[in-house]
Amino acid sequence: MDPVRNPYAPGAGQRPPELAGRDKQLDAFDIVLERIARGRPERSVVLTGLRGVGKTVLLNQLRSAAVSRGWGTGKIEARPDQGLRRPLSSALHTAARAIAKNHHNQERIDDFLGILKAFALRATADKGMRERWQPGIDVPAVTGRADSGDIEIDLVELLTEAAALAQDVGAGIAVFIDEMQDLGPADISAICGACHELGQDTAPLIVVGAGLPHLPAVLSASKSYSERLFSYHRIDRLDRESADRALIAPAEREDVKFADEALTALYRKADGYPYFVQAYGKATWDQAPGSPITAEDVEVAAPAAEEELAVGFFGSRYERATPAEREYMRAMADLSGDDGPVATSAVAAELGRKPASLSPARDGLIKKGLIYSAERGTIGFTVPHFGRYLRSVTI
Ligand SMILES: Nc1ncnc2c1ncn2[C@@H]1O[C@H](COP(=O)(O)OP(=O)(O)OP(=O)(O)O)[C@@H](O)[C@H]1O
Ligand SMILES: [Mg+2]
Repeated sequence: MDPVRNPYAPGAGQRPPELAGRDKQLDAFDIVLERIARGRPERSVVLTGLRGVGKTVLLNQLRSAAVSRGWGTGKIEARPDQGLRRPLSSALHTAARAIAKNHHNQERIDDFLGILKAFALRATADKGMRERWQPGIDVPAVTGRADSGDIEIDLVELLTEAAALAQDVGAGIAVFIDEMQDLGPADISAICGACHELGQDTAPLIVVGAGLPHLPAVLSASKSYSERLFSYHRIDRLDRESADRALIAPAEREDVKFADEALTALYRKADGYPYFVQAYGKATWDQAPGSPITAEDVEVAAPAAEEELAVGFFGSRYERATPAEREYMRAMADLSGDDGPVATSAVAAELGRKPASLSPARDGLIKKGLIYSAERGTIGFTVPHFGRYLRSVTI
């Protein structure tokens, strides 16, 4: 059918034509926002899950929910080896600009922006950066608040000021952090500390994080109380009904139908993983001669979808790994029949090596976000079906 009208959207962070199966999380978040607005205590929110399950897309949707309530919002995508100050100042600048639209005291806003600027400029001072980075805030920096250089202290001060500004207009601040597991230890600890402090005053500010399955472990390693600080939502693959809806609803808008067997075939292939649902849906649409889409259309289209995934979803990640890291992942793939986590000791045995000698490869892969340490002593792929992919190709 006409590829121009193809509604499906495989791709990192691509907004799906139908956000299926996430009503529970959306409803829970509405309650969180409402409670915070009424001065009730609430925990910050963390979404975790494998690659391609829809964490980024859901995070963006939660952000829209906050925006539509008049909250100030900002978003960061954490990167390894990048400090929090600079991206966080931009995010809070965005949030403050949204609040400023309803705020009638320009002096208060300028005061906050001055503090924000001082916080941001510490990034340059901390790193001794030679480039003259400017945060793009055109008020003078205010000294004495959020500029001590200790990120833990500065963050509490800055976020307290941000929350107060939002409170003036009966709103709140929500800071969204994608790939949160990539924040450095000092920044993670500062975020936990700040959420803890602000929570005690029921300040209207929340952090909404998203990351890989080991993010809760990263947070509790930083602060033991973090388990009580965040409400964790595991974002998983879609059940059959939701996966069907993700396919049917966008097609219906184009007057296209699916035969039941086509949906069964698609669910078998995509296994409920949102990225795969979009990829197979897209390829099937392009291959199908007309409506209704049949099971045969799915079979004909599958190789094209798999080729796309091999390049865009699996291959691009595999290429980021060094030869030693690739060897490590191949051993994992050979051991994990169902692609679930495997014992690190088994990987070492499979490679005929001492576990300690494999630490650099394992740590490198964790840092690159390709694997994560699951339960004690085990390690899993962050990418669904990655083991299957590695076993199917000779690279
Ligand atoms: N609830 C959903 N219903 C239908 N499609 C979805 C849903 N959630 C996500 N998708 C689709 O899945 C794909 C992956 O989504 P997204 O990039 O948000 O995943 P992610 O969990 O952030 O992955 P990564 O860990 O690689 O960043 C996108 O193409 C998106 O359109
Ligand atoms: Mg993402």
